[in-house]
Amino acid sequence: MRLWLLSIVLTAAGFAALPLHAETVASVTSPNDVITVELDLHEGRVGYRVERFGEAVIDTSALGFMLRGSGKLERNLELTAQSGRSFDETWEQPWGEDRYVRNHYNELRATLTETVAPNRSFDVVFRVYDEGVGFRYEFPEQAGASEWIIDDELTEFALAQPATAWWIPAGEWNRYEYLYNRTPLNQVTTAHTPMTVRTDDGLHIAFHEAALVDYAGMWLRRTDGRRFRAQLAPASEGWKVRRTLPFHTPWRTLQIADSAAALYESSNLILNLNEPNKLGDVSWFEPANYVGIWWSLHLETESWATGKKHGATTANTKRYIDFAAEHGFRGVLVEGWNPGWDGQWFGNGYDFDFTKATPDFDIEALSAYAKSKGVHLIGHHETGCAVSHYEEQMADAFAMNERLGIDVVKTGYVCDAGGIERRLPDGTITREWHDGQWNAGHHLRVLEAAAKHHVAINTHEPIKDTGLRRTYPNWVSREGARGMEYGAWGNPTNPPEHEVNLVFTRMLSGPMDYTPGILSLQGRGQTIQTTIAKQLALYVVLYSPVQMAADLPENYAKHMDAFQFIKDVPADWSRTEVLNGEVGDYVTFARQDRNSDDWYLGSITDENGRVLEVPLAFLEPGRSYMAQIYRDGERAHWEDAPFEFERESREVSSADVLTIRLAAGGGQAIRFVAR
Ligand code: NOJ
Ligand code: CA
Repeated sequence: MRLWLLSIVLTAAGFAALPLHAETVASVTSPNDVITVELDLHEGRVGYRVERFGEAVIDTSALGFMLRGSGKLERNLELTAQSGRSFDETWEQPWGEDRYVRNHYNELRATLTETVAPNRSFDVVFRVYDEGVGFRYEFPEQAGASEWIIDDELTEFALAQPATAWWIPAGEWNRYEYLYNRTPLNQVTTAHTPMTVRTDDGLHIAFHEAALVDYAGMWLRRTDGRRFRAQLAPASEGWKVRRTLPFHTPWRTLQIADSAAALYESSNLILNLNEPNKLGDVSWFEPANYVGIWWSLHLETESWATGKKHGATTANTKRYIDFAAEHGFRGVLVEGWNPGWDGQWFGNGYDFDFTKATPDFDIEALSAYAKSKGVHLIGHHETGCAVSHYEEQMADAFAMNERLGIDVVKTGYVCDAGGIERRLPDGTITREWHDGQWNAGHHLRVLEAAAKHHVAINTHEPIKDTGLRRTYPNWVSREGARGMEYGAWGNPTNPPEHEVNLVFTRMLSGPMDYTPGILSLQGRGQTIQTTIAKQLALYVVLYSPVQMAADLPENYAKHMDAFQFIKDVPADWSRTEVLNGEVGDYVTFARQDRNSDDWYLGSITDENGRVLEVPLAFLEPGRSYMAQIYRDGERAHWEDAPFEFERESREVSSADVLTIRLAAGGGQAIRFVAR
């Protein structure tokens, strides 16, 4: 167990026992008096409000549920108990963006009980940080009921100020793979979380959830004006959630910050609201970069299906293993290695076999060959959404993976939203949502089965990330947004602002397997809308502990100068700093390598070129560094001159200020080698 408790302090600070005004029945303030949450009771209804430095952020917003049978749990409530506590702990991540994470909050627990029959009761627990708020409902055992069926959660979020929102639609066919909308808040319909907003006064707020366990994912439906209500992903039975009492909901989270950079840096709040590591020692997982038989499949020069174009052949895989060994990549992903790809697999994965390879893929010999070269094959389990079918095989598949040294598996759930196949005990097939309660449970079953065999999981077409990597550190990455594959065939393709949108929305939730590094900048009959330097910068900007060098070996051979950065950049960090940024416009990250004193910088912009002055204050004072700079050339532009690119080395120190010039659609990547 590498979790390391540095300090725990329990005090009784931060609680106002007296109501702040007439209706307020309880309140709690963050450790440094930045954020206050107040609980109001009004004619038996309970609501919460959030203020920052005394200014309203969230106006009174309702709490409650629609329960099957016993009806609405929302009225005739009284406060029957309240208590508070403070918590301050620093813990160590086995891998991540920051090695140490501080978890410092004040907590309020309020018990609300119905004054009329059936006298149901629940606790609402608020954890208030200087950077935001998490709250959840806890349901104790109730007289006369052993389980509750939730037809709707009635939690509201009423923004106090007009704002601009960055959001993607929820409850639509394409899961999470939409281009981000930037609209006035009052034009949002139903959004996935994280949803990020910037008020007209410049306050940045992100809405999300933490620890989505045995519950349905939360969408945000705008009910009127600036008021949103939780809308839970449906279950096939017609309800949203069915749980045995006692139970609690996931945490509903609000990150609140003055700037886009601070908003990103507040994301550890999501991890902090998750339970500590349940898996013990996970040092068997090694964060690393990988290559694979993948981009060729999306270009359609090779195929997943067997036959003349089959990508996953023994000879082709050997070529990739050799390439990985030569250039220092730990992993080789191979898609299309198993039976099941020859027919119609999209949304119908009944033919997939996860324990057998196709006849032209000698998995035993290839694993041995990889091992002899210090490389590991990366497994691929595309389910085509036949999830029960997959669950029947996964224990055997992970056992085989362990035997063959395949310690990372990429999973996939390709089908339209709502198309997840679940087989009931009597053999009937029902269809679930990717983010419904049943499929949330499926992902944890996969993690537990994989952990038994020391296998880490990288989920595509996943459920959103809610920080469960703290509890299950073998859940190392996932997709859950439009990735680089849209550059191959997307209609439309990812525009130049896509990645700067991702940083301040999707990336707040956790690692993404974006698969950058397409230095050929060429999709299937369309070009990728970035410069070369931006492809490099993405390795620092879009965090993942498994990071793909996604282009073909023959394309890297044509760009060896730029490729050097991809070979050098690590996938595990001891510290992360966001140096500047605006949502959807630009961002600059500095990250310190977990295994050396080197630092890395990545800066990207949208369709607008810009010049940024970046103080190198993050470097160790008094130390000299060789900055290996990979930047856009003078004439570079994502549309006209994406290959214009320059490399320069110069000596720098923490006292220097770098002028970083980003071309339209461009970027810059720097390695600072400590001397
Ligand atoms: C979609 C995934 O995002 C992609 O990476 C994969 O190649 C295909 N599904 C096939 O599994
Ligand atoms: Ca923009």
